Amino acid sequence: MKDFVIIGHKALTTGDFSLNDLPGSAGRMDILCRCINSALFLSHGMRRDINVHLILLGEPDPGKIVRFNGEELRYLNPDERSSGSLIKKALEKVATDFETRSTPGVRIRRGGLEKLMQEFIDDNRNIYYLREDGEDIRDVNDLADDAVFVLGDHMGVTEEEEDIINKGASKTLSIGPLSLHSDHCITIILNDLDRLEQPKND
Ligand SMILES: C[S@@+](CC[C@H](N)C(=O)[O-])C[C@H]1O[C@@H](n2cnc3c(N)ncnc32)[C@H](O)[C@@H]1O
Repeated sequence: MKDFVIIGHKALTTGDFSLNDLPGSAGRMDILCRCINSALFLSHGMRRDINVHLILLGEPDPGKIVRFNGEELRYLNPDERSSGSLIKKALEKVATDFETRSTPGVRIRRGGLEKLMQEFIDDNRNIYYLREDGEDIRDVNDLADDAVFVLGDHMGVTEEEEDIINKGASKTLSIGPLSLHSDHCITIILNDLDRLEQPKND
């Protein structure tokens, strides 16, 4: 599996939001919904080898992680309302230290960046921090099959979060010279990985 981690600094942490207002009262939940879409959807299918971890840090109960697991995922359509609705259902569950399944392939638990990073470190996963001024991803030929990619949202990544990520990250990677939206970054990363995995016809 490959994993994407997106930090949602303002994302609401109860299911008490309207699907009609994902960018507003839901705390830029639209960004996280688009990341789900980019990480999991193909034109006619789904990437089954991807986990997406949304770290929700907004009010009123910050510190929840919603995980979308491509292998088991069902009932997800490629529009923001659909992923928003699955996040909402997850947030309607009581979050404990252990994952609770809300719908097939979607789970929620209490936690934040530090806990998640420590788990990846304990599992000896290769963690890559995505930052505009990092090493060019196209110069890295040995991206691990079990890579973990960590991205910020519209607010980027705070210094404190960066310290936590850098404890486990083997590299800081850039996907290009301009600052892009998080979901666009995911599309480009996966496209680069697809191209690396595709055997070349000589
Ligand atoms: C919209 S950007 C963050 C912009 C935010 N205003 C800032 O100044 O940090 C969202 C996230 O996408 C990732 N990102 C954006 N452009 C990138 C690039 N060219 N290379 C690598 N990561 C990038 C970073 O993880 C960033 O935190």
